[in-house]
Amino acid sequence: MNDLSHPGRIGYSLPQIPEDLFTVVGDLSKLIPNSMTRSTDLKLPEMSEPEVLRHYVRLSQMNFAIDVGMYPLGSCTMKYNPKVSQRIARNPNIANLHPYQDEGTIQGILSILYDLEKMLCEITGMDAFSLQPAAGAQGEYVGTLIIRNYLKDQKLDQKDEVLVPDSAHGTNPASAAMAGFKVIKIPSSQAGIVSAETVRGLVSDRTAGMMLTVPNTLGIFESEIAQVTKIVHEAGGLMYYDGANMNALLGRVRPGDMGFDIVHLNVHKTFATPHGGGGPGAGPVGVISKLADYLPIPTISNSDGRYRLDYDKPRSIGPIKSFYGNTAVLLRAYCYILSLGGEGLKVASEQAVLASNYLLSLLDKEFYNPTIPRGIHAKHEFVVSSSPLKRKSGVLAGDVAKAILDQGMHAPTTYFPLIVNEGLMIEPTETETLESIEAYGDTLNSIARNSLVEKDRVISSPHNAAIGRLDEAKASHPNTIILSWKQVKSSQTN
Ligand SMILES: Cc1ncc(COP(=O)(O)O)c(C=O)c1O
Repeated sequence: MNDLSHPGRIGYSLPQIPEDLFTVVGDLSKLIPNSMTRSTDLKLPEMSEPEVLRHYVRLSQMNFAIDVGMYPLGSCTMKYNPKVSQRIARNPNIANLHPYQDEGTIQGILSILYDLEKMLCEITGMDAFSLQPAAGAQGEYVGTLIIRNYLKDQKLDQKDEVLVPDSAHGTNPASAAMAGFKVIKIPSSQAGIVSAETVRGLVSDRTAGMMLTVPNTLGIFESEIAQVTKIVHEAGGLMYYDGANMNALLGRVRPGDMGFDIVHLNVHKTFATPHGGGGPGAGPVGVISKLADYLPIPTISNSDGRYRLDYDKPRSIGPIKSFYGNTAVLLRAYCYILSLGGEGLKVASEQAVLASNYLLSLLDKEFYNPTIPRGIHAKHEFVVSSSPLKRKSGVLAGDVAKAILDQGMHAPTTYFPLIVNEGLMIEPTETETLESIEAYGDTLNSIARNSLVEKDRVISSPHNAAIGRLDEAKASHPNTIILSWKQVKSSQTN
């Protein structure tokens, strides 16, 4: 903003200090020790009020958001956040609650959280839930710590291996490793799923458990779950369900009924809470009854019509997040579940799956190769490989992702999962209209066709976005980023 500054221009004038205040406190500047006063003027931009306003509105327009256009970022799921949930979460009776308030004065919010736990139990087929974890990854960490502590109590400490498919989100192996396990990678089959045969070859008496994402990150329902679960259970391991993608299956199947012991959910993906750019979020964890004592403290109980936060749980893995998690986010999930109801949630999943399959059907297979086997439908998201496009034109998946920004749409997730070359992972979500899905498909196809005739333009895109092509290698190099509270000379920031 300093570039826009004009000496003497004023946008806001502070009120004069009233005479009578002067007579009470005297000259304020004399009350401040010399060592704490400024020797130079504060370098604030000098601007008019409209200039400041325009500056910030302009900045806000440089951002892309789900409220601006289609944002089909597979796996991360940028879902429309219904405004009714936002409005309720802003209600001062809730928003102004403080976690240090006496339990007797927060019975309302405790009853909401208690009910939400019960709803999540119903949705997933689990027996108990903790709403505390702040993200999916933290939920996984909680789940794998529960596996570790449970096996320790069973005197099965030798079980130190967790099986994780190669298609899993990176947080799965990371969480298992943080909980002290050795991670055993399960290679996906040709059909993009975990085969029971492969799992049988990997389990041993060291198997502590297995993490499975359903539907998996290729958007495919894992069809050998029953056999896989049986194999792992027979080896004495626990089954962990990465339920980040539960938005594809609401009201259709439940992890508990499929034999899973632990589940985490990502409320931003399944219950339309704000994604939050890394937080605040919520990744509730559910377990079957034999693991309930291991959930983080505090837990919420209800007896004699009174809700309590219980800390006295000797088997618990302990607190994982301050207080009881991100209440304002959880409240939005509660609103979403209540406003849609059981039938509505089922329809939301069905529409997400329909939107995904429709968009997949629109893509030109000459350029975008589906990773899903023929005859199988994708779930809420799908992955295509743009390797055919690369072969024909030299244009990469990353170039396609940049070119689409010029059309006022957000890019798909690129290069994930890692098992797909030139991967584009697309998740339209249930709220996109037929027209916006068709426009997205048309745009991806026309970028591919353009690549054959105007390759240079495609690989130098975006041309119309607020910021052009970044040097991504340089941008992520630690020497490039200078974080400082002091003013940095412009030569240092280049
Ligand atoms: C399948 C899967 N598992 C785990 C995660 C991790 O969740 P979070 O980003 O909330 O930590 C994600 C992210 O969206 C995911 O897609």
